[in-house]
Amino acid sequence: MTKTDRTEEETVAYTIEGGVAWVKFNRPEKRNCMNPKLNRQMMRVLHKLEYDDSVGVLVLTGEGTSWSAGMDLKEYFRETEAKGLGAIRESQSEAYGWWRRLRWYQKPTIAMVNGWCFGGGYGPLHACDLAFAAEEAQFGLSEINWGILPGGGATKVATNLLNMRNAMYHAMMGENIDGKTAAEWGLVNEAVPLASLKDRVQEVASTLLQKNPIALKATKDAIRRVMEMTYDNAEDYLIRAQEAANFFDNSGRKEGIKQFIDEKTYKPGLGAYDKSRQAE
Ligand code: COA
Repeated sequence: MTKTDRTEEETVAYTIEGGVAWVKFNRPEKRNCMNPKLNRQMMRVLHKLEYDDSVGVLVLTGEGTSWSAGMDLKEYFRETEAKGLGAIRESQSEAYGWWRRLRWYQKPTIAMVNGWCFGGGYGPLHACDLAFAAEEAQFGLSEINWGILPGGGATKVATNLLNMRNAMYHAMMGENIDGKTAAEWGLVNEAVPLASLKDRVQEVASTLLQKNPIALKATKDAIRRVMEMTYDNAEDYLIRAQEAANFFDNSGRKEGIKQFIDEKTYKPGLGAYDKSRQAE
């Protein structure tokens, strides 16, 4: 599709299929780079899907050959900068705002990286809980190639996910890595051929849909929070977090124990309990 006058609403596309929301960056003609319109629309879509009971897992992917070519150099940088500091701060908060929303999303999130992933794209990449890439995908901190440092959180993402030598090389050299190397370096969980990427992500999403959703939210938050805590603080946080989760969903936990210990219908070491039998 060739389209240059995309409306704000058209910058993001989504479908909901069997509990999974497939959300797409939808500016393929601009390699899905993020302009202010897309950033505003993505926040709207995330907001709508977050409390939609028909959605259990959210997948973020890209239309066409790109996942996202990062920030829009023309509309996000040049045109916004021409309007002054207020406009710059506003468009930063629109972009950072939806990445933050995604980092603490109520539902499990999966980045399905189908193609190019550059610079600012590392923000939403890191915001997703899990990430699967096509082996053919290309990842790059290209900022150095056009004369800036990797801002907008990209440097922080690189140091969170990569070891120091790889982060330094990646940021300083401006060379791309493919999906396989991204998996070896820990930027994504796994790389598979593009032709089987959607099937693999569907498989992961289906497994997540079988788990207790309250436990999933508590777990994903715990992973992000405890990374920055001392051991003792983490221990305390985890006690409080589990107790808070019990308050909302003690029936899930009791059912999980009952089906294993009393009914012997499943083994937690080998899969999840049947949550369809859990009392509301
Ligand atoms: N900002 C603004 N426009 C972008 C863009 C970006 N980040 N990435 C792509 N585009 C635009 C191009 O300017 C071009 O617009 P045009 O059709 O009006 O000329 C269109 O998208 C297609 O891009 P093109 O470069 O022709 O596609 P390609 O498939 O040959 O190359 C890339 C794809 C991703 C390698 C290349 O577009 C690129 O290097 N983009 C910039 C990546 C980057 O540095 N991002 C970091 C930003 S923080």
